[in-house]
Amino acid sequence: MGIQIAPSMLSSDFANLESEARRISGADWLHVDVMDGHFVPNLTLGAPVVEALAKVAEQPIDAHLMIDDPDRWAPEYVEAGAGSVTFHVEAARAPVRLAREIRAKGARASMALRPATPIEPYEDLLAELDMVLIMTVEPGFGGQKFLDVCLPKIRRTRALLDKAGGDVWLQVDGGVSVETIERCADAGADVFVAGSAVFGADAPDAMVSTLRDLATARCAH
Ligand code: DX5
Ligand code: ZN
Repeated sequence: MGIQIAPSMLSSDFANLESEARRISGADWLHVDVMDGHFVPNLTLGAPVVEALAKVAEQPIDAHLMIDDPDRWAPEYVEAGAGSVTFHVEAARAPVRLAREIRAKGARASMALRPATPIEPYEDLLAELDMVLIMTVEPGFGGQKFLDVCLPKIRRTRALLDKAGGDVWLQVDGGVSVETIERCADAGADVFVAGSAVFGADAPDAMVSTLRDLATARCAH
């Protein structure tokens, strides 16, 4: 699939999501951060907003669910029109069943790991997934500093995905910018979420291109 850029709408103007999406027409996905005030100490938006944005946006929606009980709630986001739905493995009761349900409903199924969660216990689940998300900050807020300590896990995840074969994408999220994206690409990531780096730029769409070029130049696999 090559390198993909998924700007996080968390850093955009929530009062103008439709026009904010148009400012990043070169983006591959719109990354939408759903936070419930329980799994993370912040509250954002839910399925009705995803549904409204999916109706007007040209890019597909990449829903990142930072919520408790994703087994109960994640399918709603497929129905709302998300093309990819990411649940946190720390919150899922039955990740295999949940991934199968997301896929059966017609979206890509993705599993996220907080910085301190290892990938190794989940090696056998990888074939059930379309994407793995390695968080490079503690989830909950945009604009945090990239955690270099997560880079070895990105490398190990890339090795496990290569060993498993198939075409599971490897996404990174948190503190991704012109300063850090090359390190992530070197480690094997191929889908890059960037919130403050994109929407904090004078020209967000140009920043999407810049990030894509930097990652493409480093992408080894
Ligand atoms: C953090 C969210 C991220 C966040 C990224 O919990 O999952 O998607 O919006 O923002 P930046 O790129 O500013 O770190
Ligand atoms: Zn996110």
